[in-house]
Amino acid sequence: MSGYLKNSVKTETPGVNSLSRRGFFGMAWKGLGILVGLETLGMITAYFFSGKNKNTGAPRQLLEAGPVDSFGLNSVSAFMGGRFYLARQQDGGFIALSLRCTHLGCSVSWEADKNRFICPCHSSAFDISGEVLNPPAARALSYYPVLIENGLVKVDIGTLKERTRSGKDQLSYAP
Ligand code: FES
Repeated sequence: MSGYLKNSVKTETPGVNSLSRRGFFGMAWKGLGILVGLETLGMITAYFFSGKNKNTGAPRQLLEAGPVDSFGLNSVSAFMGGRFYLARQQDGGFIALSLRCTHLGCSVSWEADKNRFICPCHSSAFDISGEVLNPPAARALSYYPVLIENGLVKVDIGTLKERTRSGKDQLSYAP
């Protein structure tokens, strides 16, 4: 019995064994953390990077806004996470307008009752296509390209396009 205890004391050096056990679990947790991290990264990449931008060759960052039919004519939907308003024109065309005022960059708000965007900083106003209605802003709101695939509206939030004036060629239509 005393020999057994002696052996136990000899073979179980508390510091060494608990350290190696702790080290093992630490490594296991780290490995699990890396796996979860890689999986999450893969999911994010699959969600946002689904193709190439035709102009720059850079990966597109497509944000799925919703089915075409869920956006009424002459309507504006805010996507604050993507920093844009999705505006559907009276003729059915879509444009994703940047929130940033082209004067000094304050965030514009949509006033549905007045059918216009208004900037709280110096009162610039823009119509539903992003065209300037009231200075001091001199340029139309910038926009992100819209793609319509399989009845879904998608916005390329990685490609901000600046412009002087709004135009029909900047709108996207369902096929
Ligand atoms: S920042 Fe919008 S009007 Fe000046």
